[in-house]
Amino acid sequence: MAITSRTQVGIIGAGPAGLMLSQLLALRGIDSVLVENRTREYCEARQRAGMLEAGTVAALRAAGAGKRLDVEGLEHDGIYLQFRGERHHVNFRELVGRTVTVYAQTEIVKDLIAVRLAAGAAIEFSASSVAVSGITSDAPVLSYVDASGVAHEVTCDVIAGCDGFHGISRPLVPGLSVYERSYSYSWLGILADAPPSTEELIYSRHESGFALYSMRSPEVSRLYLQVPADERLEDWSDDRIWSELQKRFGLPGWSVSEGRITDKSITPMRSFVAGPMRHGRLFLAGDAAHIVPPCGAKGLNLAVGDAIVLASALSALLTEGSSALADAYSDTCLSRVWRATHFSYFMTSMMHVLPDDPFDDLIQLAQLRYVTGSTPAATSLAENYSGYESPRIEM
Ligand code: FAD
Ligand code: PHB
Repeated sequence: MAITSRTQVGIIGAGPAGLMLSQLLALRGIDSVLVENRTREYCEARQRAGMLEAGTVAALRAAGAGKRLDVEGLEHDGIYLQFRGERHHVNFRELVGRTVTVYAQTEIVKDLIAVRLAAGAAIEFSASSVAVSGITSDAPVLSYVDASGVAHEVTCDVIAGCDGFHGISRPLVPGLSVYERSYSYSWLGILADAPPSTEELIYSRHESGFALYSMRSPEVSRLYLQVPADERLEDWSDDRIWSELQKRFGLPGWSVSEGRITDKSITPMRSFVAGPMRHGRLFLAGDAAHIVPPCGAKGLNLAVGDAIVLASALSALLTEGSSALADAYSDTCLSRVWRATHFSYFMTSMMHVLPDDPFDDLIQLAQLRYVTGSTPAATSLAENYSGYESPRIEM
């Protein structure tokens, strides 16, 4: 026999979208139960994003999860674009009056979990057999088996599928339209105990392939290399990684500082948008509904943006009985998602090298010269990178 209970919002997934949603709902006095199939340790250690738009930083502060971010986050005025041995700075602060902040997704997840648990929230880690039923009824049910093997059935007003790209929620939306593009390359990412030799991110297009120099702290670097889509991690020794990074970033008198590699992984590149992001009383948020290639740093920012829009919509629905925002939820999010999908595609296509394609090579060079030479072109890049139409939290 399952243990039965009730909540207002059942949330699946303790990534940035699910955690932010449960926190924003709690601030509005709305109850939720959050169910996650991994352990807390796993969620807090999963290496992913690092770059936050100004609006995401403001949202984390407004949600009460900005304390450590304000101390440890690294505020950047812009980024460097490097090609043909030239390194150009694109200054967002000067161009659009906004900055961006490096603060790892692992730390955001830790901060949000800590804030939720301190408030006595129900987060079930290591849940199994997570399932949803009755999404077209007024009382959908979220069921799962907890870490000690006990079955639960939680009756909800609404369910939020924040369970990432491989979750169970998206397949529950019938007649979903899917728009997709895959790319012929992946990113090999490393984390290294090495003080970054740059104060801001470097996006470098080199004839051997794209490379990104990012960081996590003044002691830890985060670096990425374009590799073929089917590349095997075993073929990349630490020495090979460092020598490729030195080649793709190297400028006379400047080099990448090296150190112990503590994490190594390969991520495929994909653009994917599914809609509508709602069916009945099930709402999708974050990677559950859309994925962008990481070049341009939009994924986590979109996930937080969806959580902000959804929290307002559910608050109006559940406390005032007003369904207008909930009815507009999918269209509101998809408009911002498509803008970010275009920007990520633009950055990805401008920076990555296609082997034996001289036409593409010269088109990319023309585009790079344009965005680094023309103030209107650089302004467009700065506006999109630092966050165009980031949703704001209204309490
Ligand atoms: P997720 O973080 O995927 O969270 C979903 C959660 O649901 C997970 O905890 C998962 O375990 C859980 N789950 C899945 N299935 C179930 C189930 N059946 N039951 C219960 N729980 C389930 N974005 C940026 O904005 N800036 C960046 O700089 C950036 N860099 C990136 C670099 C890399 C290498 C990668 C891979 C991604 C990057 N992103 C970046 C993207 C960003 O990490 C994601 O968009 C973000 O994690 C999405 O958050 P989410 O909450 O929607 O999904
Ligand atoms: C990161 O720091 O992990 C990062 C930064 C910018 C990107 C992608 C990833 O475009």
